[in-house]
Amino acid sequence: MTDPFSARVRADFPVFERRVGGRPIAFFDGPGGSQVPRQVADAVRDYLLMHNANTHGFFATSEETDAAIAGARERVAALLNAPWPSEVAFGANMTTLTFHLSRSLGREWGPGDEIVVTQLDHQANVAPWVRLAEDRGITVRVVPFSSETFTLDLEALDRALSRRTRLVAVGAASNAIGTVNDVAAVAERARRAGALSFVDAVHYTPHRLPDVQAMGCDFLACSAYKFFGPHVGILWGRTEHLERLTPYKVPPASDTAPERWETGTLNHEGIVGTGAAVEWIASLAGDPGRDLRESLRRAYAAIHRHESALFAQLHAGLTSMPGVRVYGPAAEGERTPTAGFTIDGVSPGEAARRLGRRGCSSGTATSTRPPSVTRWAWPIAAG
Ligand SMILES: Cc1ncc(COP(=O)(O)O)c(C=O)c1O
Repeated sequence: MTDPFSARVRADFPVFERRVGGRPIAFFDGPGGSQVPRQVADAVRDYLLMHNANTHGFFATSEETDAAIAGARERVAALLNAPWPSEVAFGANMTTLTFHLSRSLGREWGPGDEIVVTQLDHQANVAPWVRLAEDRGITVRVVPFSSETFTLDLEALDRALSRRTRLVAVGAASNAIGTVNDVAAVAERARRAGALSFVDAVHYTPHRLPDVQAMGCDFLACSAYKFFGPHVGILWGRTEHLERLTPYKVPPASDTAPERWETGTLNHEGIVGTGAAVEWIASLAGDPGRDLRESLRRAYAAIHRHESALFAQLHAGLTSMPGVRVYGPAAEGERTPTAGFTIDGVSPGEAARRLGRRGCSSGTATSTRPPSVTRWAWPIAAG
């Protein structure tokens, strides 16, 4: 029997009416993106049909566009607990925004400077920093993780940090194995070394309510398509950095933050949908009219309770199957409901294909190559 929370949520997702090969479908590809509720699609449609325009014009739809983007910034600021909506910039996706930011930061760095990345991170939070390092003669240091606890080795981080460190790039949660990192501890260590911290919260945001103030980081990026929104990327940065740094930007476009960080004409309908996704998550608290951040807190608590129960079932099932190996922190530990697993004698790609034919979407087999250290391959990520 479907529990009331599940029933309430599923009713908002028309996609669950679909069948594949005669079977109902099951989505296990959270690490690759979420499904979109009707309310978000309605907001996108309404924007495109009734308010579509470029920004800063002196006519109704353009003024409505400016107001809609401003409203979305406010909602995303509430989601991230950003002190100011002007600290929220939109872009194509997290990867593009991270390349964008890295080039701007790199203008000030060169030989003798160092950047720290981690082995537990998605390539989107490694490659931009490694490419920058190649361009500018910067040294990259890589922090490993424990293959027993699947958590970052903070002692190795301490050894990697020095007064030469300019930035530490760390993921808030791993989309391959579900580890949730103590980014506040990492940001604090970076700060003590005189370095900046950049947090990849793409996989964290669907599962935990981000809080840039509690994390104490300098920058954070995430993607709305992972939290029930359209394909839009989000970059948060402290005002002091967003105003001081010089982004690559076409003149004479706006030179005030956050617009100075946004290039070209944005995906307005996606941004409107992003704001609607934040509202939709908050609606799960069932207390309309409350302060948005407070509703989000309550909604995330409900999500956490629900997905923890589902994950306990998934984890117990996977670990009891002969020939299946599960990777990641302990089931009840500090983690997202994301499982990496392999099946003896079946390649990850083949396993994903077979599950797909049965209407079950799983993350595809991924292989990640960390810079300069070892090669390693991750199995299927599902969550
Ligand atoms: C942890 C993590 N970081 C970064 C990315 C890249 O995000 P985007 O597709 O928005 O560039 C992903 C996407 O799967 C991810 O899971």
